[in-house]
Amino acid sequence: MAMLDGIHSIKDLTLEGRRTFVRVDFNCPLEEQDGKIVVSDDTRIREALPTLRHALEHGARLVLASHLGRPKPGKDNKKLSLEPVGARLSEMLGVEVLLPDDCVSDAARRIVKELRTGQVCLLENLRFHAEEEADDETFARQLAELCDVYVDDAFGAAHRAHASVHALARLVPERAAGLLMIKEITALSKLIEAPPHPYVAVLGGAKVSDKIEVLDQLLERVDALLIGGAMANTFLAAQGVDMAASKIEADKLPLARTILEKAKSNRRKVELLLPTDVVVAKSLDATEGSIVDVGTGLPTGTMALDVGPRTVAAFAATFANARTILWNGPLGLFEKAPFAAGTFGIAKAIVAATARAESPAFSVIGGGDSAAAVHAAGEEVAAGISHISTGGGASLELLEGKKLPGIEALRGAAVGR
Ligand code: 3PG
Repeated sequence: MAMLDGIHSIKDLTLEGRRTFVRVDFNCPLEEQDGKIVVSDDTRIREALPTLRHALEHGARLVLASHLGRPKPGKDNKKLSLEPVGARLSEMLGVEVLLPDDCVSDAARRIVKELRTGQVCLLENLRFHAEEEADDETFARQLAELCDVYVDDAFGAAHRAHASVHALARLVPERAAGLLMIKEITALSKLIEAPPHPYVAVLGGAKVSDKIEVLDQLLERVDALLIGGAMANTFLAAQGVDMAASKIEADKLPLARTILEKAKSNRRKVELLLPTDVVVAKSLDATEGSIVDVGTGLPTGTMALDVGPRTVAAFAATFANARTILWNGPLGLFEKAPFAAGTFGIAKAIVAATARAESPAFSVIGGGDSAAAVHAAGEEVAAGISHISTGGGASLELLEGKKLPGIEALRGAAVGR
């Protein structure tokens, strides 16, 4: 069954004059500017705009709901109010955004009841209620009172069985996926259903333990697996390289050995590449690094903070004929200039493969830190990627072959009756 089978699109719903509840993922990074909290990266808001504009153009009374951060129950969580997000959304959408102070209060109910066609209300952070994460049915029923139709556009939260994406969806007969949700599922399912070969996956990031399941799945599908970032340290150490002061998951060394073995003995031959050179420094705050050959081991007291130029060239060479490229996880500490070259170099090499005149590659960035890295490499680099997911954990779980609660809950809707 194709992943979108049995799932309606917002375009199938009648929205005119109806309270259209759209679950969005506006879990955006915030920062303080001149004593005011503002959104520092509005990608997730921008990506939801096509759905929101569609709803408004079709006469919806728009009710938006999202989580933001991970507020602690019973604590003063004002810093995680959706107010800055509402302000940014209002600028981007060009309409006033009403923000009741709680998602299920009397005030919220009144505002939603009085909402007119073309008006927008953003409910306050769903996670201010512990019932959201508990997938609580009673809480879901309170949210259901605020909607005539339900649309889920929060791909980034689709792997969470939380009330607003799971219990609530199943309570509303007229439910559908938003345009971002459909775009995400369409792009990511290409990697699962019939990816054109050669298929190359680049995995980075901090921990082997976060990527075990996806590594297992990828070994069954890809032609080449390139490993960088801090997780490569554990693989190199498993091969006997002295990684000096580098971050290593000592308890994952046997697992790394098993994965290396599996790549060799797999019935499908998978080329597994690890860094051959790395950029090292004595601390995370160092202002410069030096390039070291992995073969000689790392100098005492240094840690690997990026992949070196020889590694970038070797990884990029595997993209030469690639038809599908997946990248998840930065290859170094790209937030700091001396350790960004590896990550940015790979981003540019992926863009070059995507722009190839003959048999271009379909390239996917798996959200989270790797999406941030591609944007940090430059907006022209980000624009050259076929699909940058807005969901870190969600895209990873989908690629692991899991069924995501937020997607499954959309099936079996009663639309068009
Ligand atoms: C994300 O940022 O990956 C999503 O918004 C999900 O957030 P969570 O990991 O806090 O559930």
